Amino acid sequence: MHISREIAPQIFWVGGNDRRLALFENMFPLPNGVCYNSYLIIDDKVTLMDTVDSAITRQFIENLLHLLNGRAVDYLVINHMEPDHCAYIEDLIRHFPGIKLVGNAKTFNMIRQFYDFDIETRLHEVKEGDTLCIGRHTLRFIFAPMVHWPEVMVSYEQSTGILFAADAFGTFGALSGGLYADEYDFEGHFLDEARRYYTNIVGRYGAQVQLLFKKLSGTDIKMICPLHGPVWRKDIGYFIEKYDRWSRYEPEKKGVVIAYASMYGNTANAADAVAGRLAEKGVQDMRVYDISKTHPSYIISDAFKYSHLVLAAPTYNAGLYFGMESLLREMAVLNLRGRKTAIIGNGSWAPAAHTEMEKLLGGMKQMELIAPPFVIKSTLKPSQTDELYALADAVAASVLDQAVL
Ligand code: FEO
Repeated sequence: MHISREIAPQIFWVGGNDRRLALFENMFPLPNGVCYNSYLIIDDKVTLMDTVDSAITRQFIENLLHLLNGRAVDYLVINHMEPDHCAYIEDLIRHFPGIKLVGNAKTFNMIRQFYDFDIETRLHEVKEGDTLCIGRHTLRFIFAPMVHWPEVMVSYEQSTGILFAADAFGTFGALSGGLYADEYDFEGHFLDEARRYYTNIVGRYGAQVQLLFKKLSGTDIKMICPLHGPVWRKDIGYFIEKYDRWSRYEPEKKGVVIAYASMYGNTANAADAVAGRLAEKGVQDMRVYDISKTHPSYIISDAFKYSHLVLAAPTYNAGLYFGMESLLREMAVLNLRGRKTAIIGNGSWAPAAHTEMEKLLGGMKQMELIAPPFVIKSTLKPSQTDELYALADAVAASVLDQAVL
């Protein structure tokens, strides 16, 4: 059965959901699945905006053939060449041998790298700002390199004000019936997964997202059609503000993420003691994570969300516990910056975790250590209570004194 939805006269959503995939990019857990969006414009020239992942091609072609009603697809606009949106290109050419592939020079190089089919006679290359008139609709192409791949572009349909946004403004999570963000309690249903998607997939490229915003300033955007997640037609400014904040690495909320690693519970004990003290001091919004239990994508997402970060880990092989080292390296690669931090290290004979964590944080931009690193030797002793509470109190004072975000 075909499933599609008209989003504007003669423009249709023709995507689908995958609730079976366990890991996006074989890396990021998908507890709520993921959706792949594709959009069809039926005009003098029938134009398809991107395709879908191989997992849902059966649904996709059913949607497409139903709406085409015997017509062929004239253009495929490839805003993004990552295989979760391009798996169907070769089949599409088989179905519609006259199809033209619309993309930029980088797009075409990537097609050649990923696939072996002949594209050379089918290319319609566009440059920054070029337009393509397909009848009543005209697409304008705006390049968005490194949001989050080099060939990425977005397409603006001038008569409707629709922005086909590639991966920008996407989210993890399959659609639960509704297509539009306003058909959901977005904050309850999608916001955490949208943040986890942005921070982990696009997070490194905040400057490039800001550049795209600059290019789009003055463009009257009435609808945003991303490649993953719901379509935005109302309160677009709400989600743009989130993207703007995330891409400037500014926290959304005052609050503390406490991320700890612990082999036998002793470092966890210190993390819990800090969390309890913070609560006593009036800090209400906290997230405490055992980094060996929670996938790093969730911790990173919350590290982007909150203003403060407390890290606690044991020493391992004269260095830092592997999971914590990996988490901090991921945060650094994703360009997380500007958080206020505190460190707790543990070591039974030669504590090194605290200095390693300090070094890794020092390699990130504008990370401020707001208390001296606290060191445990094997277990936290009552004699260290004052020192530990001094660290917690410094964090609490900083959270509570911080200007409203
Ligand atoms: Fe959804 Fe970058 O692919």
